[in-house]
Amino acid sequence: MHRNALRRLLHARRLSVVTLAASALLATGGVALAQTAPAGTAAGGKVKVGFMLPYTGTYAALGTAIENGFRMYVQQQGGKLGGRDVEYFKVDDESDPAKAPENATKLIRRDQVDVVVGTVHSGVQMGIVKVAKENNTLLIIPNAGVDEATGPLCGPNIFRSSFSNWQPGYAMGHVLADRGMKKVVTLTWKYAAGEQSVKGFKEAFEAKGGKVVKELSLPFPNVEFQALITEVASLKPDAVFVFFAGGGAVKFVKDWQAAGLKDKIPLYGSGFLTDGTLDAQGAAAQGLETTLHYADGLSNARDKAFRLDYAKTYKLQPDVYAVQGYDAAQLLAAGANAVKGDMTRKPDIIKAMEAAKVDSPRGAFTLSKAHNPVQDFYLRKVDGRENKVSTVAVKALADPARGCRL
Ligand code: BEZ
Repeated sequence: MHRNALRRLLHARRLSVVTLAASALLATGGVALAQTAPAGTAAGGKVKVGFMLPYTGTYAALGTAIENGFRMYVQQQGGKLGGRDVEYFKVDDESDPAKAPENATKLIRRDQVDVVVGTVHSGVQMGIVKVAKENNTLLIIPNAGVDEATGPLCGPNIFRSSFSNWQPGYAMGHVLADRGMKKVVTLTWKYAAGEQSVKGFKEAFEAKGGKVVKELSLPFPNVEFQALITEVASLKPDAVFVFFAGGGAVKFVKDWQAAGLKDKIPLYGSGFLTDGTLDAQGAAAQGLETTLHYADGLSNARDKAFRLDYAKTYKLQPDVYAVQGYDAAQLLAAGANAVKGDMTRKPDIIKAMEAAKVDSPRGAFTLSKAHNPVQDFYLRKVDGRENKVSTVAVKALADPARGCRL
């Protein structure tokens, strides 16, 4: 939009709203500013939910599972939240951080959604958080663990139904230190999810006397693992800790076995390494141990009912991503129900979401002050097509939320 046109618009609208809108537009350089920031759906309208998720690329299956879980919870409520019908909007974020501001702006300004549910990839999440903050739009993060979202960039309108990158890594750091491991090599994709997982791992592992002797990485979503696997073997560590997920995790686990290291160097990871991937990984994954906030074989009634319904609805077994989508909908329901679907009442929605005790298939959880789940982290072991729970690695683990001022 031309600068003069923007200036005229600034005078025609309430200054506070348009200042936010203008800064979003100028920052993204993207979608034309046709509307002011949405105030929220008022009495009588539908609750508008915008999915910003990956539907293509290495994380495509993760995005679909999140949407499936979310929709299933809404269906269980008769298709309504806060007594209102729900209308969905969708954007494929392609796990591409460069497109994130424009994609988020489309949902918020073009589609005028009440809430953005997104996303999977930590780099894309940074763009969404920025736009959601600029527009004061409610955001529920159903996967991406980027620590900043519930750390220095936390905000009253930013919620997470998943985990912070720090959490599963930290849990595994404890496990390996307690097993007497001393010398560990880490290997991840070189972006926030991998780097912050390693940071969490290192914090717990080194506090108990272990040492991370080398941190290896490759760019996301590169899957040319061979040279790095050879380097790990030459370092002869006690164990390896990795972060990979989705299609990349399938390839890594198979390459690790093909290189003949499966029975030579113990391989550990955050649970994304083997969640939603076991059918494709087959024998290569058997016996792998990981830490995550969900597992197969949790014997709570909520999980049993969830799994039965998910299998019936989608002819698939659910995974952690489906659980996080389901719980994103539960969290939103807590807010929407408190205001009987009047999505203009943001402070009341936020208050209800902050106070929610989410009855999750993973086990009930509450939110920290920074709006991140305080939850148990399970140690799991692959057995057939399941990540079977062995034990609770760390109970009620809260992200430290460093830098969050709420
Ligand atoms: C992330 O980018 O934050 C992420 C992606 C897949 C699984 C877990 C975390």
